[in-house]
Amino acid sequence: MLHSILVHSHSGLRYIVLGLLIYAIFNAWSLRFNYTKQDKLINLFAMVFCHVQLLLGIMLMFLSDKVNYGEGWMKNAQTRFYGMEHLLGMLAAITLITLGRRFAEGKELPADKHKVIKKYYLIGLILILISIPWPFREVLGAGWF
Ligand code: HEM
Repeated sequence: MLHSILVHSHSGLRYIVLGLLIYAIFNAWSLRFNYTKQDKLINLFAMVFCHVQLLLGIMLMFLSDKVNYGEGWMKNAQTRFYGMEHLLGMLAAITLITLGRRFAEGKELPADKHKVIKKYYLIGLILILISIPWPFREVLGAGWF
């Protein structure tokens, strides 16, 4: 029951994370010469939702049957994906997004802030897209929601 609630929340939140990241990247891309409170909030929300996914993911690591470091886990595509590829890919992405936001906040010029967000969030987004167990990767046993 708890597992099912967590999986569906974690699975559905992917769309919010993807939407917010894409929005933040386009917003930074417009290369405006001001950095408003709204820019700050968009970048913050995109990062916060990544952190929510991280927390849900950590809980799922303990509850999921798909995470199993027993014998042969590296030879099985599903246990290798959730135990290593999904975990490391997402951790790298979330670290980049967190650092990118911090570096951007440290910059003086608005254009520099936008540039840093654009670069870090874009690399983070690409890593997230390739680390998601999309349903067409059937062996991973995940759904659209
Ligand atoms: C932005 C970051 C993340 C996104 C978008 C994401 C997305 C997903 C999606 C779509 C699934 C498939 C759920 C289903 O079966 O329908 C999944 C499963 C899973 N994720 Fe993540 N994830 C993220 C980060 C993480 C992190 C950081 C961890 C670990 C610390 C993690 C651990 C897991 C586990 C263990 C499962 C398997 C759940 C199960 O089916 O029992 N995820 N994730």
